[in-house]
Amino acid sequence: MSLIETERLILRPMTEADGEAVFQWTGDPAVNRYMPYPVHKNVEETKDWLRSLQGKEEEFGFCQKETGQLIGAGSIKYREEFDAWEVGYNLRKDCWGKGYATEAARALLQWAYEHGARRFMARHATANVASGNVLKKCGYQFSHLGQYSRYDGSETFDATYYTMEME
Ligand SMILES: CC(C)(COP(=O)(O)OP(=O)(O)OC[C@H]1O[C@@H](n2cnc3c(N)ncnc32)[C@H](O)[C@@H]1OP(=O)(O)O)[C@@H](O)C(=O)NCCC(=O)NCCS
Repeated sequence: MSLIETERLILRPMTEADGEAVFQWTGDPAVNRYMPYPVHKNVEETKDWLRSLQGKEEEFGFCQKETGQLIGAGSIKYREEFDAWEVGYNLRKDCWGKGYATEAARALLQWAYEHGARRFMARHATANVASGNVLKKCGYQFSHLGQYSRYDGSETFDATYYTMEME
């Protein structure tokens, strides 16, 4: 089990017991606007997702040290089609704009680096300016424009792709 500590956060695995806390963002259409997963309709859907994560090392909850509360989650996963590691994140809306996503994303990238990752990629809906700013602050550079779709195919977003290499 991996725990990552940053200045204000502990990044830790999530369990079913976190369902209510996690549903605060998985069930929020504003948070879900550009995410590929369908917004959760109830806390049971969130618990199902949390159960499906068990044993997956690369998915982390972001826990605020000050309050002990989960405020978001993110992952860093190897994507065979890009031969690179992709970072992703989403936060409870009342915690936006405080630098938490940048702090967490940097920690995820460092964690993957320590596990052998050297090539990284990321993508965000071009309209989702905040996410692009997080990536640039982490050292990512523009690669190309493209698209991505929600997992259920219900929506396709114009997207900006980024890459980063670490020695
Ligand atoms: C995208 C998201 C993770 C950003 O989280 P955050 O913690 O608010 O981001 P940060 O505070 O680290 O901000 C990073 C940079 O973006 C800027 N920023 C934040 N919100 C912004 C906005 N709405 N528009 C433009 N820039 C914004 C910040 O000012 C900061 O840059 P600065 O330090 O130079 O000022 C958050 O808004 C979120 O969870 N959105 C919903 C889920 C999502 O879209 N995830 C990404 C999918 S690709």
